Amino acid sequence: MTTFQTLLPQPADGLLTLIGLFRDDPRNSKIDLGVGTYRNGAGVTPVMEAIKAAERILLEGQQTKAYLGPEGDQRFVDLLTPVVLGAAGAYDGRLVGVQTPGGGGALRLGGELIVAARPGAKVWLGTPTWPNHRPVLEAAGLTVAEYRYFDPATQTLCFDDMLAALSAAEPGDVVLLHGCCHNPTGAELSPAQWDTVALLLAERGLMPFVDLAYQGLGGGLDADAYGTRRVLAAVDEALVAYSCDKNFGLYRERTGALFALARDSDAASLVYGNLLALARVNWSMPPDHGAAAVRIVLESRELTRLWRTELEGMCRRINGVREALAATDGRLAFLSRQRGMFSQLPITPAAVTALRHDHGIYMAGSGRINLAGLQAADAGIFVDALIAVGGLPARNRPCSVQYRALR
Ligand code: LMR
Repeated sequence: MTTFQTLLPQPADGLLTLIGLFRDDPRNSKIDLGVGTYRNGAGVTPVMEAIKAAERILLEGQQTKAYLGPEGDQRFVDLLTPVVLGAAGAYDGRLVGVQTPGGGGALRLGGELIVAARPGAKVWLGTPTWPNHRPVLEAAGLTVAEYRYFDPATQTLCFDDMLAALSAAEPGDVVLLHGCCHNPTGAELSPAQWDTVALLLAERGLMPFVDLAYQGLGGGLDADAYGTRRVLAAVDEALVAYSCDKNFGLYRERTGALFALARDSDAASLVYGNLLALARVNWSMPPDHGAAAVRIVLESRELTRLWRTELEGMCRRINGVREALAATDGRLAFLSRQRGMFSQLPITPAAVTALRHDHGIYMAGSGRINLAGLQAADAGIFVDALIAVGGLPARNRPCSVQYRALR
């Protein structure tokens, strides 16, 4: 028997498979609500003007492509820090950050840091969540426990379930939190709920691990960072996995950062050294291009203004699609209360398949839709197709206070 013969077949990633299926569909009327990329009013995922301008500057001005180091472009991280964490972002030397290959790389690196410090640590995930959270965190060596965060059938945030789970968690457990624009449900915590969660985390000695991948695409840069900043202000230790892939439109460039908050500056230095060592054995150093482009944007007042304006336009368009759908059919009113690119429709896998086969409408098997894939003018077409496959929501069944610890 050879080595490779022992490998087990792996299922293809459900979300990424949709990219190929959609591309190969010859219908002109097809609609892609699958993988999470922003689309403009012409249905295109554009390179942002601010990034194009930064790339021109980079092309002309870059003198070398010599290695940087496992921390990546440290100036990119330093300029990004106040965007993410606000004016108080310095945290008296308690905060460190490194560049990572996208938000996914940051999640993996953060997971490995936790396991290096606390082997066998447990991370709590609210369900449903991004399908890659569990595999990434388990691959990093964490044990995963789940609680119910959201009930798609009633479009209700199960805040009591969340509080019950966090109250039962052990000190030192990690809690994965979506900073904004919850993926896949669009159901965000309110500021008051963030306040409650922050106090509970601090009181119970739990470590927040915030996944902030859509800042600026929900309610604006500062509003979307409220929860992250609130939580970091309350606790001794925290991690933030940050992605520039969506808000700078850099997807395939894999541009992100991991921020770590430690109890004091000595602990922060220790964390930083460990992050460098872990990055070195994973990817040696992150890819440069996207981070260099973001750095150039953030170094320039003019380009930063342009980027913010473009981002606000993207946010407006997504919220406009939400409003259009809610106005087209009252049973979709919940969409206008949710934020970001995603919402999860309470529809069956059979209805998802029928939408794809019969109507050329592509979405994740879970019923998650990427609102940015739709034009407001197509709201009627989409709602008609949903009705045709029996895919409009039924009415209220409340969340129960329950949670599950798996494994
Ligand atoms: C998504 O949720 O669609 C994106 O984050 C893309 C991905 O890697 O899954």
